[in-house]
Amino acid sequence: MIGELGKKVAVVTGAARGIGQTIALAYSREGAKLSLWDVDVEGLDRTAREIRVSGGTALALKTDVTRLGEIDASVRATLERFNQIDDLVNSAALKMSFIVPRDRRSTYHFWEIDPDRWRNLLDVNLTGVFLCCQRVAQEMVERRTGSIINITTGNETKLRRGYSPYGASKAAVEAFSLSIAKELKPYSVRVNLLQPGGAVNLRGQTDPSLLPYDVIVPAALFLASDESRDSYGEMLVAKDWQPR
Ligand SMILES: NC(=O)c1ccc[n+]([C@@H]2O[C@H](COP(=O)([O-])OP(=O)(O)OC[C@H]3O[C@@H](n4cnc5c(N)ncnc54)[C@H](O)[C@@H]3O)[C@@H](O)[C@H]2O)c1
Repeated sequence: MIGELGKKVAVVTGAARGIGQTIALAYSREGAKLSLWDVDVEGLDRTAREIRVSGGTALALKTDVTRLGEIDASVRATLERFNQIDDLVNSAALKMSFIVPRDRRSTYHFWEIDPDRWRNLLDVNLTGVFLCCQRVAQEMVERRTGSIINITTGNETKLRRGYSPYGASKAAVEAFSLSIAKELKPYSVRVNLLQPGGAVNLRGQTDPSLLPYDVIVPAALFLASDESRDSYGEMLVAKDWQPR
């Protein structure tokens, strides 16, 4: 059985769409209060509205995860409204389409990558995760409880030809997460990695070659709940994950 999220407050980055939105909606259905962070204000408002219409509670905070000042302001706003942060899901990311269009991905070479775009991608996918973990973990350490969930991808994507910036960012997130998991364990703050297990459909899309858009939900609920109280530094593959 998946634990109740009834008394939990969850911060979800990248909550305007995609996997972040799916996780935010699922957490809300389980009773969590949501602090939604993204740079896409319209998308954020859509997610927040959907949560509120179905009876949930959501705070939409425009937050660029590469900016410590914005993260700090959003942490303060979340604490002011909800008093605590129990779960942090780092889902915000830039994908390979930010670097090169899909139709060029199998032929282009890494030496064609614009170094500024490389830096931007690493800034969001890696430094953004670092900054959000750094700021939120301090609140969790103080309360001696919390769960941080960093979203990554499988080796089939990380090591794929043409995916070097994205793959490097996710490999670095994994190393960072597994290392801080050891630092935070003495404070009962859990850090775990979660990956869908392949490319996922967009919501409403039903391409049979892709995973269902909500494949991530059961494992994401588990990691946010007290059911995962003994999980530290684990990597869950959502498509294969079974409730314990
Ligand atoms: N979609 C997949 O098939 C898939 C597979 C494996 C892993 N993942 C991972 O799952 C996570 C979510 O992927 P997705 O498909 O939902 O992506 P997406 O592109 O649909 O959504 C990413 C969100 O991050 C936001 N974002 C971008 N830069 C930001 C910034 N600087 N600050 C705050 N928010 C920012 C975007 O506005 C967007 O709402 C990512 O970490 C991705 O790498 C996705």
